[in-house]
Amino acid sequence: MKNNNSFLKSYKNLKVLVTGSTGFKGSWLCYWLFLLGSKVVGVGLKPEKDSIIFDSLKLKKKIKQYFIDIKDFYKINKIIKSEKPDIIFHLAAQSIVSTSFTNPLETFGTNIIGSTNILESLRRNKISNLVYITSDKCYLNLGTKDSFKESDLLGGLDNYSSSKASAELVFASYFDSYFKKQKQLSIGSARAGNVIGGGDFKKDRIVPDVIKSLKRKKNIILRNPNATRPWQHVLEPLSGYLSLGKMLMNRELKSNITPSWNFGPYKRNCKKVISIVKLLTRGWGNSKVKILHKKSKKFHESKLLSLNINKANKELKWQPRLNLDETINFTIEWYKSYLSGEDVEDITNYQIKYFIDK
Ligand SMILES: NC(=O)c1ccc[n+]([C@@H]2O[C@H](COP(=O)([O-])OP(=O)(O)OC[C@H]3O[C@@H](n4cnc5c(N)ncnc54)[C@H](O)[C@@H]3O)[C@@H](O)[C@H]2O)c1
Repeated sequence: MKNNNSFLKSYKNLKVLVTGSTGFKGSWLCYWLFLLGSKVVGVGLKPEKDSIIFDSLKLKKKIKQYFIDIKDFYKINKIIKSEKPDIIFHLAAQSIVSTSFTNPLETFGTNIIGSTNILESLRRNKISNLVYITSDKCYLNLGTKDSFKESDLLGGLDNYSSSKASAELVFASYFDSYFKKQKQLSIGSARAGNVIGGGDFKKDRIVPDVIKSLKRKKNIILRNPNATRPWQHVLEPLSGYLSLGKMLMNRELKSNITPSWNFGPYKRNCKKVISIVKLLTRGWGNSKVKILHKKSKKFHESKLLSLNINKANKELKWQPRLNLDETINFTIEWYKSYLSGEDVEDITNYQIKYFIDK
């Protein structure tokens, strides 16, 4: 199937509101939308101390940014009401599994109440289009299935998964109550895999942890080396969200299609953590760093996770573009560029262009 880039043209001059604009995926999305000529409105908390991507891409100068907490309905509603965006991409979340264990209130508060606030504000202000990002971890994973499709049972055995499954339930309930009557879909929820790429410095995520170890020439300590994950470059799910967003805005999807979408990699990219770490280490060119395994029984983490992407393939004509080597190389090149003090806009522009041309 040939990749179709026509969806990208739809974003020129549109007002697009992105929640989570100061985070890893949100910053990449805002930057890409800026390149496409959208008027981008960002909503998020101030970047955390070690979060570099929002500032590195100089997004404060490129988008209109609001630093607010989406748990506060009054504040988020005021922004949505006054900005009246053409479409909202909702990515804001407490996104770290280990933090969900130490800070459940913030996790459930942001991921469930914050997400409900977005849906409610959309409804009250008659904003037409929404792409609502949750996670592959929203599926009930008892370790017995090797792949999840959109109609599979939701559920979570840990706080993060449970918060994302709950966010999906709230979405389904809003869809059924207020949006299903329309002939065409105008809102969709999106579930992506383990996203990697340049600029992520979040603690307790595999790639940032490995990059920090490689930079400091320190041993790499893995919690769960044999867990299988659906690895994908950040541009892959973002292209899925943009493609879905365009179809929603143009009312190209009938509402008898269920409104949830998996945007994972091909099965060949579903690899064990240890394999990815070895590829990163080899790609970085530093074989002296050792990879160690330290068991953590602190919280439940599922062993196997992969996503069935047939639906996005069929209905949106969306498919992953980068192979695993390109995904790893893109990631390493970006970090190396950043750590050597280069302007990372250059490598970001290059990678987006390469991705579109692929
Ligand atoms: N990174 C991944 O591998 C991955 C995989 C699947 C799904 N996701 C989901 O994609 C989305 C984006 O992930 P990410 O990797 O960019 O996360 P991130 O942690 O890098 O960014 C999170 C963003 O949400 C904002 N945020 C958090 N709490 C907030 C609050 N109370 N009010 C306002 N803003 C708040 C942060 O300021 C930041 O802008 C999240 O919903 C995440 O759960 C991520």
